[in-house]
Amino acid sequence: MTETNTGAPPRKPLLLNAFTMNAVSHVAYGLWRHPADQHHRHTDLDYWQELGRLLDGSGFDNLFIADALGLLDTYGGNAGASLARGVQSPLTDPLLVASGIAAVTEKLGITITVSTTYEHPWLLARKFTTLDHATNGRIGWNLVTSQLESAARNLGLKTQVEHDLRYDRADEFLEVAYKLWLSSWEDGAAVRDKGSDRNPDGMFTDPAKVQPIDHKGRFFTVPGPYIAEPSPQRVPVLMQAGASPRGVAFAARHAEVIFVVGADDEAIRRNILKTKAAAAREGRTQDAIQFVTSVSVVTAATDEEARAKLEEYRRYFDFEGAVIHYAASTNIDFSSYGPDTPIRQIDTQSSRGLLGMFTAQESGRDWTLKDALAPEHGFGRSRVFVGSGKSVAEALDRWTEATGLDGINLLHIVSPASFADFIEHVIPELRKRGRIRDDRPAATLRERLFEQQSPLPATDHPAHTLSLIPARQAVADKDNAA
Ligand SMILES: Cc1cc2nc3c(=O)[nH]c(=O)nc-3n(C[C@H](O)[C@H](O)[C@H](O)COP(=O)(O)O)c2cc1C
Repeated sequence: MTETNTGAPPRKPLLLNAFTMNAVSHVAYGLWRHPADQHHRHTDLDYWQELGRLLDGSGFDNLFIADALGLLDTYGGNAGASLARGVQSPLTDPLLVASGIAAVTEKLGITITVSTTYEHPWLLARKFTTLDHATNGRIGWNLVTSQLESAARNLGLKTQVEHDLRYDRADEFLEVAYKLWLSSWEDGAAVRDKGSDRNPDGMFTDPAKVQPIDHKGRFFTVPGPYIAEPSPQRVPVLMQAGASPRGVAFAARHAEVIFVVGADDEAIRRNILKTKAAAAREGRTQDAIQFVTSVSVVTAATDEEARAKLEEYRRYFDFEGAVIHYAASTNIDFSSYGPDTPIRQIDTQSSRGLLGMFTAQESGRDWTLKDALAPEHGFGRSRVFVGSGKSVAEALDRWTEATGLDGINLLHIVSPASFADFIEHVIPELRKRGRIRDDRPAATLRERLFEQQSPLPATDHPAHTLSLIPARQAVADKDNAA
């Protein structure tokens, strides 16, 4: 915790994620047309390395890259409008740029979105182990179950796997991954002995310290042993954004950082409390999970300059782009509905939480598409803070305290300028308020975010019990009997 020099009690640093996507635009619909925007260079590794260098050591904790596995083709029944407007397309793979970013950074966490619905735990576990080695323990995983019909079709399914069943599969996916990451290889299994009195012929890995996992479940059969030696964190920092009842139950069990949504402050606060209660039922402590939400910030040297900048950005905002994205995320074709169409909850097979948040039941009022996706002075669905660094820092400080948020996902309106402006104007003011984390040399992402000494998930995290495998269970039983 950072000490302040004002005599006030120490304040908890905010978790600062820089939030983006490996696509020409993420959620700043239409803003790729702004002359300052560089995000259209997302196919160049140079661009990602410039962004990594800008963020590393700046006060940002983590670069968080979203992903999807299909074009947005719900609106009008085809992908034409999303392609023409550059809405989350073209989109390249974020996992494959992570090691390039790691090569030019030292402290920055790098969190990549990967879907449990279309991967296999044996293959994906190794990718994260590899990246955790390559980053010296700075990797995180934004764990999604996916929500696009186009992804399901292109991956050989007629339609998406049923919504709650995707979470059941994700639960078992993680159980397999935990076994591979945490239990198959004991500490010190890789002895790397090139030849000594004990091992004159040399021994790289001690086979007695590597066990099969013998997993046989409803979705996966994985005997093991694991193929890769453990990485610094063993388990990537787990981030998640489930919002439906099944999604919240899943997030409360596994996530260490949760992206919470809410149409207003009260809904955010309520969703945090609801998830904390669900986490407590899983036996996790109150501070086991950090909660963040997405925000946009427009900042400059003065409040007036920031307001002028906002008006200039808004000239590029593309409301139809926002509707195209929302249609695909909720699997409802909004193309024939006007901006004044009221939003109603229905249980689609896509994101239920994104529909539910804009209902009277959740927020006490009715919402139209325009209210939800193009609020006055806003950008899409996220809250916007506008002003000098001091004004924004004050507002963020108050707002996070009032809602119970631990941090933010900062969206870019134009990239990298939105991140650079935040670093120049807002971070120094947040630092004065004790809300920026001091860099700890050589810390893993988990040690950095949770200010803990171990790089492994906290002892109350279910990874420890779910990863128990027959060989380890036998040892534990023997110890207990002794
Ligand atoms: C901040 C944030 C980031 C998200 N990033 C992604 C993403 O990159 N890819 C994805 O498929 N879904 C993403 N989602 C959607 C969630 O994975 C999830 O589908 C959504 O929150 C609804 O959950 P539900 O299915 O439990 O209603 C994100 C959600 C939020 C709030």
